[in-house]
Amino acid sequence: MGLSGLFLCLLVIAAANAQTYRVCVPATDSVECQRLEIGGSEVSCVPVETRLDCALKLSRNEADFGSFSEEETLLISQMQPSEQQVIATVRSTDKIGVPYAFESVAIVPINHTGGVEGLRNGKYCHPGLDSDEVRWSPRVLKALEVSAALTDRCPGSGTERKTAEELEVETLSGFFSEACRPGPWSYNTTVDADLKRRFPNLCALCDNANCSSGYSVGNSINVAGVSNNNRHIQALDCLLNRGSVAYVAWQHVQEFFILRNPQNVNQFSALCPNGTLVPLTDELVALSTSPCAVVRQPWKTIVAAPSVATAIQNRISSWWLNGADSGAGWTSTLYQVLVGGASFRVVQESITSTSNYTNSIRPIDRVDTSTNCLPAVRWCTVSSAELRKCSWLASAAHILGIQPTISCEQRAGNFLCISEITTSRSDVFSVDSHYGYIARKNYRLSAVKLVQNARATASRVAAFVKETTAQSNVTRFENLRDKVACFPEYGGIAFVAFVRAAHERQVISASECDYARGAGELFRGACAPGATSDTHSLSDSDFNSTVLCSACRPTVSLGGNNFTCSWDYTNYYYGNNGSIACLADPATDVAFLETQNLPAQMAALNLNPSNYRALCRNNTLANSTGVVVDDGCLLAHVVDAEVLARRDDPANNAINTLFDSLDHFFGYNVGAAQQLINLHLYSPFDGTSDLLFKDTTIGLTEYSSEASNEQARNYVELFKHLEACTGSASPGPLPDYATKTVFSIATLVITTLIPRLF
Ligand SMILES: *[C@@H]1O[C@H](CO)[C@@H](O)[C@H](O)[C@H]1NC(C)=O
Ligand SMILES: *[C@@H]1O[C@H](CO)[C@@H](O)[C@H](O)[C@H]1NC(C)=O
Ligand SMILES: *[C@@H]1O[C@H](CO)[C@@H](O)[C@H](O)[C@H]1NC(C)=O
Ligand SMILES: *[C@@H]1O[C@H](CO)[C@@H](O)[C@H](O)[C@H]1NC(C)=O
Ligand SMILES: *[C@@H]1O[C@H](CO)[C@@H](O)[C@H](O)[C@H]1NC(C)=O
Ligand SMILES: *[C@@H]1O[C@H](CO)[C@@H](O)[C@H](O)[C@H]1NC(C)=O
Ligand SMILES: *[C@@H]1O[C@H](CO)[C@@H](O)[C@H](O)[C@H]1NC(C)=O
Ligand SMILES: *[C@@H]1O[C@H](CO)[C@@H](O)[C@H](O)[C@H]1NC(C)=O
Repeated sequence: MGLSGLFLCLLVIAAANAQTYRVCVPATDSVECQRLEIGGSEVSCVPVETRLDCALKLSRNEADFGSFSEEETLLISQMQPSEQQVIATVRSTDKIGVPYAFESVAIVPINHTGGVEGLRNGKYCHPGLDSDEVRWSPRVLKALEVSAALTDRCPGSGTERKTAEELEVETLSGFFSEACRPGPWSYNTTVDADLKRRFPNLCALCDNANCSSGYSVGNSINVAGVSNNNRHIQALDCLLNRGSVAYVAWQHVQEFFILRNPQNVNQFSALCPNGTLVPLTDELVALSTSPCAVVRQPWKTIVAAPSVATAIQNRISSWWLNGADSGAGWTSTLYQVLVGGASFRVVQESITSTSNYTNSIRPIDRVDTSTNCLPAVRWCTVSSAELRKCSWLASAAHILGIQPTISCEQRAGNFLCISEITTSRSDVFSVDSHYGYIARKNYRLSAVKLVQNARATASRVAAFVKETTAQSNVTRFENLRDKVACFPEYGGIAFVAFVRAAHERQVISASECDYARGAGELFRGACAPGATSDTHSLSDSDFNSTVLCSACRPTVSLGGNNFTCSWDYTNYYYGNNGSIACLADPATDVAFLETQNLPAQMAALNLNPSNYRALCRNNTLANSTGVVVDDGCLLAHVVDAEVLARRDDPANNAINTLFDSLDHFFGYNVGAAQQLINLHLYSPFDGTSDLLFKDTTIGLTEYSSEASNEQARNYVELFKHLEACTGSASPGPLPDYATKTVFSIATLVITTLIPRLF
């Protein structure tokens, strides 16, 4: 072959390799994204917010491959059973030949009888719910308990007002005579402490009676290669000394009986899920897989779209020789992105669907067909994108073993969801705090949780008056009498903040519980969109609210009769930006609105901020003009959303701690790499913001005046007056308007179809 022939040949090779594959890269690794495409790279970067977004992109052919954790692979195989293919697994270097990431096993004394049921009244040695050395989800941690004590059926317990954790621990406490089961029994600290106090037999084998310090390591022997501080080793020690069963990882059974206690191996058996005993021997514990496991965990996977699975698998062996990091160049960067550090190897698998891969190792029933003590919590959503995030959340929580389960439903709008909860056709709804008043007053709902916001994103409500007339006309709340006011929406957060300030300043009598009457009698006119609508004022008020819409005007003139009270953008003064437009109207005097986006909203309307001045809560005018208002001047500074449920729903305790668990696993508590499933409840999903929770959410908090978050306490305080009026402490039978609620649902379906943008 001449030189030109060689050149041609090289060209052909180059062309054959010219295909680039699109790989998902978590957005936090933005530098990796650039480095991936350096120097002859065969891949291009597809940034993704979370690894679950990668699964969605793969199924839409917007990416070619990516990697998923063990639990994510299980989730994907349920959500997209045959859309993706496993091309390789990522295994730790010390277990390359082992088909499972881990196996959990039940080890019992050799003379154990009666199978799994034979564990009744036994002594249970558990590594702890906080044991973080192997990545065990709650479902794995509790698998033996479910099969032995049937904790998923809660035999003999009434479920009223109980949390899932309480039902579980109650059943366990009745099943085992003693146990050591360290770590949190609930992610709600109050519930956890209460359960530890009430069921001390489940801590009796621990060092102290509340499980808090786990097992005592005082006089156990120390052997090289076996850590006495490892909870699995400690659980086996517990079994050796006095236990009837230890539920541990097979790799630690091996360490324990090979290195530490070889003299004891013949005294124990593995208890299989079907009740069979397999006596342990030196030979058996030397095997890298257990004789029978309670749970076998698939490995972390590299997954590709079917059309390119074979092609990518073929390239992998040349990218990473022997499945190891190539050490330099883009292939090394790719290794870091998909695989992680030096303690892993990539092992090629025969190509199969994700569901084939996981079902052969760890089949899990689907969330909608699973057995549970408590009925599923029905979560109301208002769009198909939100429904989809909810379904992924529900499945992810189910895969991890979080109780109670979630089911998701979609309704046409916020008010419809709110009324569905009132009528018990749905259970929870996470919504803008803007709806807090109406949900409480008209629909008798209450919060099970509030969100926490980053300081800058909480809801800030202020009152503004016109600079030109401010000095002479409105300088104090007392001057508001017979003036004309603008509100974004009747009953919204700005309206409630106004009523509270008016109560404080006694321009509305503190005994006035009818807020429409209070405002309507104070002002000469107003625009409070929705004030005359059934959705907003289902109250028993006999006040004619027309005056609260006298200042509104339609976006498109209706000719003769220009009256509108509609609560959508056909009302020109609707919404926060509408309120500022309303204040610019010469006929009005004051506007109550949220300030977060005000500068941009004023710019869009071509208004000059220095023409306005805030009227502060302490009844003085702000020192300077403009719409940037300091905290002390605000009428309210509160969280921007809450999770609503029926007041006094017997399931509320269970719902409350469910959200503690969701926050623990899907909130911002751990980095994406540590998350068992990389779903972020408070972040955009599949590129869409504000689904289930707004992006401004950073966590959850209690609806309590003792909450540690200041904006949450402020929010509780904001509704104090209302709750005193409606007597939320002892809600009696539904008043008359409840029947009206049911009646107006048909109307709601239609009205809520109009998208509500705030
Ligand atoms: C198993 O043997 C031990 C001691 O050898 C004994 O204490 C225990 O009661 C026996 N258990 C059963 C279930 O027979
Ligand atoms: C724990 O759950 C209960 C309801 O079961 C709730 O009242 C309490 O506020 C929750 N939060 C904390 C931090 O304990
Ligand atoms: C029980 O399971 C073990 C391990 O999977 C198996 O070897 C054994 O044959 C099973 N026994 C019965 C009765 O099904
Ligand atoms: C899944 O496994 C079944 C049976 O083993 C096989 O027939 C099928 O082709 C596999 N599906 C995929 C997508 O690999
Ligand atoms: C403010 O007060 C002055 C004098 O009382 C009056 O002429 C003017 O119309 C008032 N302006 C508004 C907007 O009410
Ligand atoms: C409320 O008042 C307006 C105008 O004052 C009147 O047109 C309307 O009929 C009244 N509505 C009711 C229900 O009384
Ligand atoms: C306010 O914003 C909405 C959507 O962002 C827009 O449709 C509406 O016209 C705006 N209102 C005013 C008064 O500019
Ligand atoms: C009222 O609040 C404003 C804004 O925080 C502050 O600047 C002013 O000093 C306060 N006035 C009085 C009398 O407390």
